Amino acid sequence: RKRVAVLISGTGSNMEALIKETSSSSVAQIVLVISDKAKAGGLNIAKNYNIQTQIVEKRSNETREMHEERIHSLLIAAGIDIVCLAGYMRILTEFLVNNWRGKLLNIHPSLLPSFPGVRSQKQALEKGVKFSGCTVHFVEVEVDAGAIIEQGIVSIKADDQEEDLIERIKSVEHQIYPKALKLVASEKVKLDLQTGKLIYI
Ligand code: GAR
Repeated sequence: RKRVAVLISGTGSNMEALIKETSSSSVAQIVLVISDKAKAGGLNIAKNYNIQTQIVEKRSNETREMHEERIHSLLIAAGIDIVCLAGYMRILTEFLVNNWRGKLLNIHPSLLPSFPGVRSQKQALEKGVKFSGCTVHFVEVEVDAGAIIEQGIVSIKADDQEEDLIERIKSVEHQIYPKALKLVASEKVKLDLQTGKLIYI
């Protein structure tokens, strides 16, 4: 089984979905949760599942690379094979991306390449699109731009508020993220490091 770390900053509902859906998986197990926020709600959820947690807040006197080096050291020490970003609200530098390229996944709450960046659900409502969704992709240095592993669709209703769409998309996120992780962990899907595209085995 591939050893998986999940990086969070907040609630951790995707992290919980990954923990639950891999608990009986033969290909992946969540063994470490790292948060860059000491108050992230997801830390308590992880502890309830008896999963090791670490808080790695960015110190004001360190660069983003130095902060990532501390995270990287923990990942190496724990023998991690795959890293899942799940509501980790920091843009990674080349340091972490290059060290983990092809083994680093992210979930984003829109149908990429539409609505990258922050508050994607609000962006979708403002554009007036009738469908949105979520995307699991490999992480590249360019934000929200790596090869797409899985996507899920939700309908947008005329009276939807941002919160409604956030919740409706999240319920689909919880389905596609475990599915994408299992595809990568089982090596049915790989990132071609040369072309940046997916290879199906
Ligand atoms: C999720 O909707 C995820 O797609 C989004 O943050 C939320 C985290 O929720 N990620 C991003 O916006 C990344 N740019 P969770 O903590 O309950 O999993």
